[in-house]
Amino acid sequence: MSLLELSNVTAGYGPTPVLFDISMQINKGELACLLGRNGVGKTTLLRSIIGLNSLTKGSIIFDADDISKMPTFKRAKYGIAYIPQGREIIPYLSVLDNLKLGMAASGKKSKKIPEEIFDFFPMLKEHLSRQGGLLSGGQQQQLAIARGLMSNPKLMLLDEPTEGIQPSIVQEIEDTLKRINKEKEITVLVIEQKIDFARQLAEKFFMMEKGVIVAQGETEELTDSLVNQYLAV
Ligand SMILES: Nc1ncnc2c1ncn2[C@@H]1O[C@H](COP(=O)(O)OP(=O)(O)O)[C@@H](O)[C@H]1O
Ligand SMILES: [Mg+2]
Repeated sequence: MSLLELSNVTAGYGPTPVLFDISMQINKGELACLLGRNGVGKTTLLRSIIGLNSLTKGSIIFDADDISKMPTFKRAKYGIAYIPQGREIIPYLSVLDNLKLGMAASGKKSKKIPEEIFDFFPMLKEHLSRQGGLLSGGQQQQLAIARGLMSNPKLMLLDEPTEGIQPSIVQEIEDTLKRINKEKEITVLVIEQKIDFARQLAEKFFMMEKGVIVAQGETEELTDSLVNQYLAV
């Protein structure tokens, strides 16, 4: 069953369109990756789904509701978590307070961090009182994902979660994303530049070029020729 359905989505910055008539569908429980060269509109697509870019045309259906005109905070409450590029945690707040911010996004009031957060990210438990900005890049990324998880989302959107992160933690993030998808049944759409990582992680892929989806399918169908055509520089 479809969880997210974009129909003819056109969006951009001011009068300049960046996305052209994008139609795509993600089913409940899927783990999909969004691929494409720099500047093709991947980030803009995620921003449009969470409402940071408004549509000039088209619609977005999420969990059977039309969210096309909903403000961002409401989309978050509806169950979409957005983990932007560059692990935007609050550097001067503690790890604990950063996590609590994630809870606030869902509108839920609870004081306690669910134990499952530490089951997915054991490292965070050891650093709860530390300032977020003092964590390593990989740890900050894990905190950003954990914060997204705190809102109990149905859909997680992640923008290049492994960018600039040391290989050992890249693997950890991949494993954790897979677990979150399988165990929590959270649908995931992740932008990823590392093609090997994307192939291991995702079951579905969408390939973008100049603001349109040019190929999509099962990750097994992501052939080297597609990669060479649309990703190689
Ligand atoms: N804040 C912005 N204002 C104007 N143009 C932007 C802005 N952000 C991105 N763009 C333009 O939109 C296009 C797509 O960018 P982006 O969605 O960031 O691509 P990607 O994530 O695939 O690298 C690029 O041409 C970029 O220059
Ligand atoms: Mg981007």
